[in-house]
Amino acid sequence: MSDDLSKSQKELLDIFKSLKIPLMAAPMFLVSNPEMVIASAKAGIIGAYPAANARNIEQLDEWMSITKNGITAENENPPWAMNMIVHSSYDRFAQELELVCKYQPKIVSTALGSPKRVLEAVHGYGGTVIADVTTPTLAKKAADAGVDGLVLVTNGAGGHTGNYHPFALIAEVRKFWSGPLGLAGCISSGKDIRAAQILGADFVLAGTRFIASHESMASADYMQLLVESNIEDLVATKAVSGVLANWLKPSLEKAGITDAQLHQEKKVDFSGDIADAPKAWKTVWSAGHGVGTVEAVQRIAEIVEIMYQDYQKI
Ligand SMILES: Cc1cc2nc3c(=O)[nH]c(=O)nc-3n(C[C@H](O)[C@H](O)[C@H](O)COP(=O)(O)O)c2cc1C
Repeated sequence: MSDDLSKSQKELLDIFKSLKIPLMAAPMFLVSNPEMVIASAKAGIIGAYPAANARNIEQLDEWMSITKNGITAENENPPWAMNMIVHSSYDRFAQELELVCKYQPKIVSTALGSPKRVLEAVHGYGGTVIADVTTPTLAKKAADAGVDGLVLVTNGAGGHTGNYHPFALIAEVRKFWSGPLGLAGCISSGKDIRAAQILGADFVLAGTRFIASHESMASADYMQLLVESNIEDLVATKAVSGVLANWLKPSLEKAGITDAQLHQEKKVDFSGDIADAPKAWKTVWSAGHGVGTVEAVQRIAEIVEIMYQDYQKI
């Protein structure tokens, strides 16, 4: 199978094979930052943050410089990843792409639109592109666009979730995609990573498991709610951000969002000042179905070690 792969696809697989466990601490809006990426590299996995987490383009420049210097100081230039919104309504796209070319993260992941917009630039400096997809149709589109890797975001994922069960989605996508394949959604333990590999994934992304970490930007109240919550404390709705996402019910109630509002849809729009626009994410908190595994606020190194020990047992 690997004979059919492009040079950059082989590189992407090699990156995940070189890690302590084939895991990326997933990019999370208003949660991930350079500190998480540096701690992830130090712990032997890959970290990522959404470019949109920096308040403005000057801060993003500073963050990317800190990240690049920080991870290089820890190790011999370990890989790191940047996450970009590629939706056509997102105003900062072109400036963010310039910074990506300046700092050259080894992996660029794209969300909420066509990865075509970043491929040429990222391949130009020797980077690789992975695209988040939730359906076989979107997976085909991203594959046709020339991405190096796909990440299947499945039912129960934190943030903008998928609808499909991972068993079925991996099987369908593997019929036409032999390239690097990632799985996201409820990955919280080493067993989950092994299971994903058995199903046909090469690597995984875990988000919810890393929100309650000392390095994250999540508030103390958000982390405490994660520790107290389980799968039954979540609701999936398009009403908050316009895209189907899983939210913690107590935070919806606190924000005054009624049951009736949960059934309304909202227009997807990433234009305007990103620091003001998605107020929803500041007051209403997201988590995936794996939230029950979060039992304490821990360091990223501790979380990775727990997952690694569990992974080694099987
Ligand atoms: C609070 C939160 C914010 C997120 N923000 C983003 C984002 O900005 N970009 C993105 O591509 N994915 C985002 N995600 C999705 C994650 O990258 C990842 O796919 C997901 O968390 C995996 O599911 P899990 O939380 O069950 O592990 C977010 C997830 C969470 C929980």
